[in-house]
Amino acid sequence: MNMTNKPYKAVLTGATGGIGRAIALQLAPQCSSLILMGRDTQKLEALKNELTNRAVNVQIVSGDLCDDSTSVRLIDAVLAQQGINLLINNAGISLFKSFEAQTDEDITQLMLTNLISPMLLCKQLLPHLKKEPSQIINIGSIFGYLGFPGFSSYCASKFGLRGFSQSLRRELSNTSVSVRYFAPRATKTSINTDQVMQMNAELKTDSDTPDFVAGEFMKFLSSHAWEKKLGFKESFFVFMNNLFPGVSDKAIQGQLPIIKKYLHK
Ligand SMILES: NC(=O)c1ccc[n+]([C@@H]2O[C@H](COP(=O)([O-])OP(=O)(O)OC[C@H]3O[C@@H](n4cnc5c(N)ncnc54)[C@H](OP(=O)(O)O)[C@@H]3O)[C@@H](O)[C@H]2O)c1
Repeated sequence: MNMTNKPYKAVLTGATGGIGRAIALQLAPQCSSLILMGRDTQKLEALKNELTNRAVNVQIVSGDLCDDSTSVRLIDAVLAQQGINLLINNAGISLFKSFEAQTDEDITQLMLTNLISPMLLCKQLLPHLKKEPSQIINIGSIFGYLGFPGFSSYCASKFGLRGFSQSLRRELSNTSVSVRYFAPRATKTSINTDQVMQMNAELKTDSDTPDFVAGEFMKFLSSHAWEKKLGFKESFFVFMNNLFPGVSDKAIQGQLPIIKKYLHK
């Protein structure tokens, strides 16, 4: 990584969402170039204008990450910005539905968006990332450590992304590319339906703002940790879940009537 005050040549997926936009705004001053990726062209253009006014060199790539043609355009954009040394796989979708009610399409779309697409993007961009000291940061979730009722497919995708991140990190440990996993807890963005927001409030689940999450992301970016979980209570719960899963089972079983009330709403 170069030692200027703008060390990053970055690609950020899901840049128009709650967390993505907040990361873009905080990251941009440290980028010599930044590629914003999302599906909403108008929002991408607006964000690009906002950042260009702050003298950041921004390109946008609008399209569905699950389409091959989008990654082809993304690679063209990477070549145009003279490389990449930071890939942030942030785009994602969620689904709060009992497993039996999830359609085959629900499950496929979720795994494609949250797991397969980021893996393919890593594969396609690795030859470019390997040209200099680089980072891949996969945005996971506390639900990448903790199975939770109603989120079976989402949890599967984020557990999978964490397993992928750990394996790839070890596989690339003798190269100049580091692979890291950043796990927010509940955050106030539109990925969470009203139903989920109301359930979180009743379960007394704490929620962060996207700005706070982006601030923690920036601290993580400049640290050496391979992963970061947000929230002390959530991190403790994950710790307990690893050591004594039966205790977590009982605690979550106690919450099941509330969770089921919202699943059936
Ligand atoms: N909010 C939370 O509670 C929470 C907690 C833990 C982890 N996370 C993770 O944080 C990340 C960002 O989530 P968020 O809360 O910021 O959600 P969000 O506000 O809904 O933003 C999601 C972003 O992903 C993009 N996206 C979704 N599917 C896409 C696709 N097929 N192709 C291209 N772009 C796609 C969206 O683009 P469009 O605008 O085109 O839809 C949007 O920019 C996700 O990976 C999520 O799993 C969120």
